[in-house]
Amino acid sequence: MMFQMRLFNFLCAKLFEFFYKSKFSHFGRRTRIVRPVAIEGPENIYLADDVYVATHSCLAARPISSSQDCQLIIEDGCRIGRFNHIYATQQVILRKKVLTANGVYISDNAHDYRDTQVAILDQPVLQNGPVEIGEGSWLGHNACILGVRIGRHCVVGANAVVTRDVPDFSVVVGVPAIIIKRFDINSGVWKPTHPDGSFI
Ligand SMILES: CC(C)(COP(=O)(O)OP(=O)(O)OC[C@H]1O[C@@H](n2cnc3c(N)ncnc32)[C@H](O)[C@@H]1OP(=O)(O)O)[C@@H](O)C(=O)NCCC(=O)NCCS
Repeated sequence: MMFQMRLFNFLCAKLFEFFYKSKFSHFGRRTRIVRPVAIEGPENIYLADDVYVATHSCLAARPISSSQDCQLIIEDGCRIGRFNHIYATQQVILRKKVLTANGVYISDNAHDYRDTQVAILDQPVLQNGPVEIGEGSWLGHNACILGVRIGRHCVVGANAVVTRDVPDFSVVVGVPAIIIKRFDINSGVWKPTHPDGSFI
């Protein structure tokens, strides 16, 4: 059964590549996208080599205004889980070998809601800061990354909502996410921290 599933996914990915590869700004070697997926603005999406995007994910890169640049970059060796939604209106970069669990949301934008007379769906999309997920980091199940930068080799716990930048070699959990551990370069071990990242 496992073999048939893998074969099915492989064939789906090959089919996707055959029909849609040329639409992307770059589609690297050994990169696989397993259908069904939703892709918006493929001309703004750069997929490096050996990237894997699992089923039911959405990759979107659409600028808010036509005068603005927009790019979604997924670097070599990244693994994107099922039901991920990665949405750039300006810049989202996943550095090399980022791993995302299922249901992860990553975005550099948000709906404006301030006008109480207008339905939120009719209000403009606002630009948040650019998003970067550092090399070798792992985003847990259902994590939300909202307009922030996450450093290298970080862990974002399951269900965390990350609203502030995260330094390299940190573990963050919760809503809003706080730092609970960091790697101490001097002692070479991971140590518990206060929420501001200082060691306990
Ligand atoms: C963050 C995580 C990696 C745990 O890291 P860890 O270093 O082993 O941390 P610990 O288990 O020692 O937990 C440390 C503290 O954080 C809490 N914690 C751990 N994960 C948490 C989470 N996702 N949300 C909220 N709190 C969490 C623990 O309860 C513990 O609290 P305490 O000190 O008050 O008892 C793990 O809990 C997690 O969320 N993993 C993601 C799993 C996943 O999504 N898998 C998908 C497969 S790709």
